[in-house]
Amino acid sequence: MGPSQSRYGGVVGPLPEPLAGLVRDHRFIEELVMQVRRALSAAGSKSAEPGLVTHALELVRDLSAYAEVDLALHIEKEEAVLFPAVRVAAEEDVEAMMVDMFAQHDEIRDRSEEIRETLRTIDTDHDELLEGVAKLNDGLRDAATAPSPAVLNGLYGTVRILDDLFQGHFMDEENHVFAPAVRWFDAEAMADLAEKMEALEAAYR
Ligand SMILES: [Fe+2]
Ligand SMILES: [Fe+2]
Repeated sequence: MGPSQSRYGGVVGPLPEPLAGLVRDHRFIEELVMQVRRALSAAGSKSAEPGLVTHALELVRDLSAYAEVDLALHIEKEEAVLFPAVRVAAEEDVEAMMVDMFAQHDEIRDRSEEIRETLRTIDTDHDELLEGVAKLNDGLRDAATAPSPAVLNGLYGTVRILDDLFQGHFMDEENHVFAPAVRWFDAEAMADLAEKMEALEAAYR
């Protein structure tokens, strides 16, 4: 498994920027979530030392802080920059095929619907991800006053659900949006996307 290989089986390989940067974010989040799961699991065991509980809560706080700024920025880069460009490019791609191949109208309609469906799914995923993060913050608040095994278990459950959401979501994006985007955008268009995402970064920091 190389450094850019997801443990969830997302797309690998040398994607150009800014797609590569989005994939790096995915790998970073996956790694952080895995660490949080491990730490919460260790902290929740009967013989756990108090230090393990403190460590786990620190990591949950790291995840929460990351979600608040970096994950929100990541989602904004996708929703405000990449996805609208993908929508246009996908439609143009489909349009070009229609001109060339009248005989394949059905296939074209299916593909077009597939792309729309994927983008719809990803939009819903973003809402669910943000809900999961809000739940994480509730759990953290409870843990600050009483890090009981029940509270730790609750946190673990929330992180596990987030983990599952990330798993499906990153795979969808990398396989169905980022990979075809390489075909749709030339170097100039990629550079333009990167520039727009950098502008968003400035607003977030
Ligand atoms: Fe996303
Ligand atoms: Fe993403």
